[in-house]
Amino acid sequence: SRTVARDAAGTVTVGGLDVGHLAEEFGTPAYFLDEDDFRARCRAWREAFGPDADVFYAGKAFLSRAVVRWLAEEELNLDVCSGGELSTALAAGMPAERIALHGNNKSTEEITRAVEAGVGRIVVDSFQEIVRVAHIAQKAGKRQRVQIRVTVGVEAHTHEFIATAHEDQKFGLPLAGGQAAEAVRRALKLDGLELVGVHSHIGSQIFDTSGFEVAARRVVGLLAEVRDEHGVELPEIDLGGGLGIAYTSEDDPREPHEIATALRAIVERECAAAGLAVPRLSVEPGRAIVGPTAFTLYEVGTVKELPGLRTYVSVDGGMSDNIRTALYDADYSVALVSRTSTAEPMLSRVVGKHCESGDIVVRDAFLPADLAPGDLIAVPATGAYCRSMASNYNHALRPPVVAVKDGTARVIVRRETEEDLLRLDVG
Ligand code: LLP
Repeated sequence: SRTVARDAAGTVTVGGLDVGHLAEEFGTPAYFLDEDDFRARCRAWREAFGPDADVFYAGKAFLSRAVVRWLAEEELNLDVCSGGELSTALAAGMPAERIALHGNNKSTEEITRAVEAGVGRIVVDSFQEIVRVAHIAQKAGKRQRVQIRVTVGVEAHTHEFIATAHEDQKFGLPLAGGQAAEAVRRALKLDGLELVGVHSHIGSQIFDTSGFEVAARRVVGLLAEVRDEHGVELPEIDLGGGLGIAYTSEDDPREPHEIATALRAIVERECAAAGLAVPRLSVEPGRAIVGPTAFTLYEVGTVKELPGLRTYVSVDGGMSDNIRTALYDADYSVALVSRTSTAEPMLSRVVGKHCESGDIVVRDAFLPADLAPGDLIAVPATGAYCRSMASNYNHALRPPVVAVKDGTARVIVRRETEEDLLRLDVG
């Protein structure tokens, strides 16, 4: 994150605060999130896309009431994909018209709540859902704005579990073969729906703009087909999220203005060629906004040197606070932050405390040979999909999220306690 620094004596600070003091005050493991960095990234996205576009932050990456307030203040919109995320958004005061509801299997209850709250859009994902949303809206005496989620047949270059726009997967309705066009046909007929556009999301942790460009071209192609068949020009397109961030020095992410420039150019060109008015564009970055803004601070518990292999460094968290390494083979970096060391770097693996050998936080890292119990190590770029995917495996207590700003730190999501666990266990 932008306000992390190491002074001449080797002390690491975030937002001007010493990590050693933070560990004393808030305990470990803990996520420390740089609020100024978060807000700066929101502004960079807003400015890159300008007033003719909307930026929806994807709440699945990380959502809390404080985050919702920052988004509201920075004039971003919010994409939620469950009733739980919707509740958090509304509880923190995000205006409903700035919320979009997603999901491939939204419940009747979730749709009803969204319609009644007056969310700005529901992204419908199946033929059944088109009918379901229409009925619910009609019963509520409303016309719900919807977009249709389409799969454009682009396979983003990313881990196969998180590529979503190729055809053989659960999201959206494929353009190829005409299901997307059929969805438009059905949605246009239903009184409860106001079909405002088409939505595409091609994957996550993508570094190359070309996949987005192909998606944009195909989505505009559908708008042209819709105009030819029905005589209506749908006014909106959403090109989803998915912009990658730097987890290690090998990653080379695109900046928001690069993606904005590329998308605008392609949408304008394709619309001009098809004789369409340029629709209002929106995007849904999650990781690219929150990912780089936080790091996880851990305390080293044991150090085990396996001769000829590597050193295993066990920390006080693990796959319960960061499942991404185990699940996606994700790469992270790590640094000793509580002191400096001139000891020789040793090939190390940072592992958690869970009862499972795949419980790896950082697969390969060089850490100083004198690393010892009590040292603090930090894993950067854990703002996205770490706290939001955290679990209670082995009855681990999910760590707090501490927001740091202008030399002050405050808890925005508190550490779980054993009482929290026992409260749910009513047997
Ligand atoms: N919009 C839609 C419809 C999505 O499905 C997603 C992510 C996003 C936006 C935000 O994508 P982002 O900009 O954050 O890449 N748990 C995985 C990532 C799953 C992404 C799911 N959808 C991970 O930890 O890498």
